[in-house]
Amino acid sequence: MKRNEPHAMLARQTPEEMAQQRFVLALKRHVMGPLRGAVPTVVKHEAEPAFLAAHGRAPADWREAEVDLDKTTHYRFTKAIDRTAQEMMWQSIGETVFREKERMEETAQALMDASTRLGSLTLDPNFTAPAVYDDVHIHLQPEGYCNDADARSVTVGALYESGGRLYSMGRGMGKEDSKAGAVIAHLEKLHPDFRPRRILDMGCSAGGASTVYGSHFKDADVHAIDLGASMLRYAHARAEAMGTRVHFHQMSAAATTFPDGHFDLIVSHNLLHEISGEDRRAVARESLRLLAPGGIVVHQDVDLLFRGKSPWEQAERAYDLRYNNEPFWVEYCSCDFGAELKDAGFASVEEAKVPRTAGPRLLARLDREARRLNGADLFDREIATRDGDGFLARIKRLARSAALRADA
Ligand SMILES: C[S@@+](CC[C@H](N)C(=O)[O-])C[C@H]1O[C@@H](n2cnc3c(N)ncnc32)[C@H](O)[C@@H]1O
Repeated sequence: MKRNEPHAMLARQTPEEMAQQRFVLALKRHVMGPLRGAVPTVVKHEAEPAFLAAHGRAPADWREAEVDLDKTTHYRFTKAIDRTAQEMMWQSIGETVFREKERMEETAQALMDASTRLGSLTLDPNFTAPAVYDDVHIHLQPEGYCNDADARSVTVGALYESGGRLYSMGRGMGKEDSKAGAVIAHLEKLHPDFRPRRILDMGCSAGGASTVYGSHFKDADVHAIDLGASMLRYAHARAEAMGTRVHFHQMSAAATTFPDGHFDLIVSHNLLHEISGEDRRAVARESLRLLAPGGIVVHQDVDLLFRGKSPWEQAERAYDLRYNNEPFWVEYCSCDFGAELKDAGFASVEEAKVPRTAGPRLLARLDREARRLNGADLFDREIATRDGDGFLARIKRLARSAALRADA
C-alpha cells in the first residue's frame, strides 16, 4: 500500500531541515516509548505511596492524582521533554513551510485555475468559526486552524500536513491515509456490497482522508468540510495535485447546509476530540439528518482513554489538555459517544477498534529486516497493511525464530 505519497503541494525540506525533523521524530519516539512508558512504574513506587501516606486513601479523581504525579521528577522531566519536542516540531516544520510559502501559493493557484480541475472549493466569506480556535492553537500548531492571512494563503493546511506527517511518526496523511484506509478495510469486511454514491468527510483538515475516499470510491461524489479558508485552499490544491476529485466547503459539521438524507457515507477522523461537547452532540444529530436511508456513519477518533482507567492513568493521559492545547481532550476522553449517538436518534450503534495500518517507515524497516534475515517469505504486505500491530508482533516472533535458526 503506497503511503505518504509526495505531491506538488507538499512543503519540501532542505537537507538541514530534514535532519532537524528526523531529530525531532527520534526525540518524540523516545518520549512516547521509554519516558511515558516508565510513568506507571513511577506511579507505583513513588506517587501512589506518597499519596497514601499523606491522605490514608487512594485519590478520588485524576485531578487529585495529578498533584502527586506532578511531584515526581520523572513525570516533570517527561512532560517538559514532550512539550519541548512538540515546540521543536512546529519550529522546524514552520521553517520549511514559511520558506516554501510563495512556491506553494503559486502551485495552488495554478492547480485551482487549471482547466483539468477535478473538484471544487466553496468558501463562505460570512462564515465565523468558533472563537476557541483563535484563542487556542490546537496541539500548538502555529497560527491555529482558522488564521487566513490573505486570499492566497495555504499555510495552515501546509503546516497541518507536514506537522501531521511528523506528529503521527510517519504514519499519517499519505494518499492511503492510515485512518481512512483502516475505516475502508473495516467497511469492506462488514459491508462488502456497500457502494456509497455521496460521501461527506467532516473536519477534513488538509484532506488527508478525503482523498483516500475519493481515490477508493471512484464513482462517488466526495464532499469535505472544515472551518478555515487557508486550510481548505491547501486541501483543495493538494487533492488536485494528487489527481483526486473532492469538493471542499467551508462550513461547520455541527450545522451544515446540505439537504436532509444527502449522504450514504458520513465520516470524521479525529474531529470529535477537538470540538466542544455541545458541538459533538450537534455533530451526532447532524450526521443523522444528513444520512440517506441505508447509509453508514463512521466517526473515528482516539480511544475513549478515560474509560475504565485509574485516576493515575487518567492524570497521565490528561497531558494533552494541560500541555498540548487540546481544550476538549478530557471532555472527549470521558464521554460516552455511543450513548450520544443513540440520544441523537441512531437506532444501531457499533463501537469497533479498527486495526491500524502500518506506516511506511515501519514497512521499510520490516522490509530491511526481512532481507537481512534472508527470509523474504516472512514479509506479508497484506497483513502489514491491514493489521500493522499484529504484523509487527508476528514479524518480531518470526525474526527471533529465524535468528535462532541462523544461530543454531
Ligand atoms: C485533528 S483535525 C482532523 C484531521 C483530519 N480529519 C485528517 O484525517 O487528517 C480536526 C479538524 O477539525 C476541524 N474542525 C473543528 N471543529 C469543526 C467543526 N465544527 N466543523 C468542521 N470542522 C471542524 C478543525 O479545523 C481541524 O481541521
